[in-house]
Amino acid sequence: MDVNDDRHPNLGDRGTTMMQLCPAAALTILILFSTAADAQSKTEATSGEEFENIEILTDMPAVQMGKVMNIMSASLGVSCNHCHQDFDFAKEGLAQKDIARKMLAMTFKLNDENFNGRPVVTCNTCHRGQTHPTSELIALPIPAPAVPPPATAIALPADIIANYLAVLGEPTNLRRIENRKIHAERVEPNGQTEPETIWQTSNGNSHTLTQYGDVAVIEGFDGTRAWKTVQSKRLSLKTDEAEQIRLESLLAFPRQADEYFHAFDLAQAELLGDRKVIVLSKKGTETSADQLFFDAQSSLLIRRTSSIPTVLGAFKYQIDYGDYQEFEAVKLPTTIHFSVPGIRWTRRVLRVESNVEIDTQLFVGPND
Ligand code: HEC
Ligand code: HEC
Repeated sequence: MDVNDDRHPNLGDRGTTMMQLCPAAALTILILFSTAADAQSKTEATSGEEFENIEILTDMPAVQMGKVMNIMSASLGVSCNHCHQDFDFAKEGLAQKDIARKMLAMTFKLNDENFNGRPVVTCNTCHRGQTHPTSELIALPIPAPAVPPPATAIALPADIIANYLAVLGEPTNLRRIENRKIHAERVEPNGQTEPETIWQTSNGNSHTLTQYGDVAVIEGFDGTRAWKTVQSKRLSLKTDEAEQIRLESLLAFPRQADEYFHAFDLAQAELLGDRKVIVLSKKGTETSADQLFFDAQSSLLIRRTSSIPTVLGAFKYQIDYGDYQEFEAVKLPTTIHFSVPGIRWTRRVLRVESNVEIDTQLFVGPND
C-alpha cells in the first residue's frame, strides 16, 4: 500500500471525541484542523509542514494526522489526553508522547524490515486496547474445531440486492415516500444523548442537525456536494468524510442507489458472531474497500464498512443498521451504530414523519 497514494484521509471525526470530552474545546479543534486541511488540500502538505513538533511522522500526508491519532488512541484504549495535555497537541516534555514516538519508529522499522514497508504491524498488533501489552501466555480453553459454513449456493450480488429491496417494502409503498423527517437521538458510549433531526429526500438530499447544548452541528448533502457546519461556520471535509455523508443520504432511500449497489460484484457467505451473513464486495479490490453485510435470514442490510489507508493501517468506518421497523409500510433501521477507531456513537430513531413539507434551502450548504 503506497501511503502517498492516500489522497483523502480525515481529521474531522476526532471532533466528535472532543465533543464528548469538552464541547468548547471541540469547536476550537475542529476549526484548527479544518484550517490545516484547507491549506493542505491544495498542496498535499506533509505533517512536517503542517504541524508544529513532528519528529517521526514528518512525511505522512497531513490529512492522515487525525486518523492516525485516533488509531493510536483506540489501539491503547486511551483518549488523546493520555499523551497530550490541555488539548495542546504540540506541547512537548510529556513522557507518554515521547514513548509513543519511539513506538512509532519501532513499528515503521518492523514494517520496513519485514513487510516491504506495508503497514502490517500496527500499534494494535501488540496493544489490543491496553497500554501495557503482556507477553504472558494465558491458558485459554482449547477452542472447538471451526465448522466450515455449509456449502450452500450463494445468490448473485444482484439478487441479494433485489431481495433486500423487496423485504424493505412493496415497490409502490417505497415509491410513495418522497421525504422523511426523522426525530432521533445520538447516544454517546457513556449514555449521554443529544437530540438529532434528520431530513432526507428520495432524490438524495439530506440535512442532519445534532444539537450539543447550544452548539448546532449540521451535516448536509445537496445531491452533489456534502458539507458540514458548526454554529453555521463551514468546516472543510475530507473526501472520505464527504463520501460517508453522501452514502448515508443515498442509502436512506435504497431504491435510488442502483449505481452504488451495482459496483458490488462478489458475494461470500460468512458468520458474524453466530449470524449467517452474505458479504458483498468488489472484485479485485483489497479488503480495504467497501463491504456490505446482509443478514442471510432476513435479507436486510445490517452492516456497511469503508476503509481508508493510513501509515498505521486501515482506518475503518463501520455502520451497523439494526432494529428495522415499518414506517408507512417501509422498513427502516431504528438503531444505527457508527464507529471509527476511537469513536463510537449510536443513533436511536424515535419518530418518523413521511412526506412532510420541506424547505429545500435546508440542503444547500453555506457558500465557500
Ligand atoms: C499514544 C500517544 C498519543 C495519543 C493517545 C495521541 N497522540 Fe497525538 N501525538 C502523539 C505524538 C508522539 C505526536 C508527535 C508525532 C511525531 O513527532 O511525529 C503527536 C502529535 C499530534 C498532533 C500534532 C501536533 C503538532 O502541531 O505538532 C496533533 C494535532 C495530535 N497529536 C492530536 C491528537 C489527538 C486529537 C488525539 C486523540 C484523538 C491524539 N493526538 C492522541 C502521541 C499521541
Ligand atoms: C511489537 C509490539 C508493540 C508495538 C507494535 C507497539 N507497542 Fe507500544 N508497547 C509495547 C509494550 C510491550 C509496551 C510496554 C512496555 C513496558 O511495560 O515496559 C508498550 C508501551 C507503550 C506505551 C507506554 C505505556 C503507557 O503507559 O502509556 C505507549 C505510549 C505505547 N506503547 C504506544 C504505542 C504506539 C502509539 C504504537 C503504534 C505506533 C505502539 N505502542 C506499538 C509493545 C508494542
